[in-house]
Amino acid sequence: MGYFITFEGVEGSGKTTQIKLLAERLVAHDFNTTLTREPGGCAIADKIRAILLDAENRDMSPMTELMLYAAARSQHVGDIIVPALNLGNVVLCDRFFDATTAYQSFGRGIDRGAIDTLNSLACQGVAPDLTILIDCDPSIGLARARHRIETSSGPREERFELEELAFHQRVREGYQRLAMEHSHRFIVIDGNEKAEDISTMIAVQVLARIPEDLRGIR
Ligand code: TMP
Repeated sequence: MGYFITFEGVEGSGKTTQIKLLAERLVAHDFNTTLTREPGGCAIADKIRAILLDAENRDMSPMTELMLYAAARSQHVGDIIVPALNLGNVVLCDRFFDATTAYQSFGRGIDRGAIDTLNSLACQGVAPDLTILIDCDPSIGLARARHRIETSSGPREERFELEELAFHQRVREGYQRLAMEHSHRFIVIDGNEKAEDISTMIAVQVLARIPEDLRGIR
């Protein structure tokens, strides 16, 4: 079995930059590394991602949204995460089931019991060994995320960026709560530090935890 690391944070927290930097460092340390993301990560889940993030779908009900995240996760776990872990890889995933608790429960107000049930159905017993939470004030993160959307030529994945600030504040509080509840699994990083320093802090903590015998496996 490999080692499963997830990255979480509010919009514009810098997690996508950081996960790529960590992947480069792990490869340099001779770990077979799989970098993936949610929603998405495989062909079918990427199609579900397009529906979830399309700003034209702003009338989507919270329950439909929750079920689409679970559906995408189920496919992604089966197609990508389980096979990579079975190969002994370090799997880095940009968001995973904690995002559903933070966004759909703390953000949207859906009962946590329902979310836990769907998450466990979708995950086939897979859970992160380690979760890096990049904590960031949502008003700063949202400004960054909106700037990125305005300057990018890709699809406008902005359904959540259009949510009010109070929604993103609830999401941040949700993540902070999860980090307290699962303190053995979470590392909380201050997203206000310089990107280079954050990257070093993450690498030090991660390299101290990944089992050495996963190095160069295969
Ligand atoms: P991204 O911006 O990290 O690519 O994530 C896409 C959006 O999807 C982001 O706004 C957070 C949201 N999201 C949820 O609401 N629930 C989930 O379970 C996941 C994985 C993401």
